[in-house]
Amino acid sequence: MGQRSGNYVLQPAGYKAFIPSQLPVNPTVDISGEMLALLSAADRALARLDGISYILPDADIFVVMYSMKEAVLSSQIEGTQSSLIDVLEFEAGRKQRQNADDVKEVTNYVDAMKFGLERLETFPLSSRLIRDIHSVLMDGTRGGHLAPGEFRSTQNWIGPPGASLAEARFVPPPADQVATMIGALENFIHAEDSLPPLIKCALIHYQFETIHPFLDGNGRVGRLLITFFLCWLDILERPLLYLSYYLKRQRNEYYELLSAVREKDDYEEWIRFFLTGVIEVSKQATTTARQIFELQERDTKRTLSAGITSPHIVSLLRILFKEPVISIPRVRDQLGVTYQTASNLVSRLAELGILKELTGSPRYRLYSYEEYLRIIEEGTQLTGSF
Ligand SMILES: Nc1ncnc2c1ncn2[C@@H]1O[C@H](COP(=O)(O)OP(=O)(O)OP(=O)(O)O)[C@@H](O)[C@H]1O
Ligand SMILES: [Mg+2]
Repeated sequence: MGQRSGNYVLQPAGYKAFIPSQLPVNPTVDISGEMLALLSAADRALARLDGISYILPDADIFVVMYSMKEAVLSSQIEGTQSSLIDVLEFEAGRKQRQNADDVKEVTNYVDAMKFGLERLETFPLSSRLIRDIHSVLMDGTRGGHLAPGEFRSTQNWIGPPGASLAEARFVPPPADQVATMIGALENFIHAEDSLPPLIKCALIHYQFETIHPFLDGNGRVGRLLITFFLCWLDILERPLLYLSYYLKRQRNEYYELLSAVREKDDYEEWIRFFLTGVIEVSKQATTTARQIFELQERDTKRTLSAGITSPHIVSLLRILFKEPVISIPRVRDQLGVTYQTASNLVSRLAELGILKELTGSPRYRLYSYEEYLRIIEEGTQLTGSF
């Protein structure tokens, strides 16, 4: 029962809750040897990813799709099955009643991300912002009855589904301490210390999950915090580091390492795991961005060499990178052309195999930019019980 990470304290009701020590860690994190090498590699990989913002002609396009991919992954919880294409079809206006709830969770996640990033341009990363983000995230969803935007007022615990408090794997601090602890975390976030930002980021995520301030959505808010922290510090120009795939794919190890901080005072192992994720994910995202860039060049050339001379074609291709699932009326509205022109352009792209009709129905056709979606969707298929 380590003093470094905190203590288990017997509560009046007869169970023990974990009271985490305040950050910074004391004695401080050991940043030597392998840790230093990992940190340096992670910094490099992240800087290279961030560089994409300056190199890609249309970096915002990448950010939009990539954040949607993150939203899909981060929102996948046991039993939900919405894929990127479901969400895009839903947004393109085709009703998908069966999994409207799942889609709502994904779009909320995208909204929460946008909301947080906008707020951070003028407001500090604060306890208030964390609650507001939670409220956007939970709006109108299955967990929406669970006090959106409010810290919990009851004891919660983590364990196998249906486990009682006595069987819990982890009992976070009592509810009456949550606000104070998040306040202390806020101070740590703002403290001008000499901790390397990525190490700080790993610690913030751990601490947030350990406080477990909400009744639901703690994982999602904690993952958003990683992005917010890095953007707020200007380490990332754009929100491009998303660890959900990494954390969800290895969730058993992830949970064990969070527990190991508590149980063995082992912050270092968790931080190493976190940094390894930063390296892996940054490299993967850099590759994805490059593939998108190449596709953009290739398809622009293909339309030109196929003799499509309409001045609208370049604009349409750009729109498709933002909305890879699209209807003809939408193309018409976006380009400001007649229905007939929109329909002709779409048909030409379909003939070239760039677009593919999804519905098979003559009445409400929907087209997808298949090759692009394939690149984006890579790595969104988590196996296991999601
Ligand atoms: N043993 C543990 N110790 C500390 N935190 C844990 C432990 N196991 C899981 N967690 C954290 O709790 C989160 C789940 O909490 P919660 O259900 O409130 O969040 P969610 O956003 O609804 O779900 P999810 O993170 O699974 O998408 C996990 O993502 C993880 O960060
Ligand atoms: Mg949950």
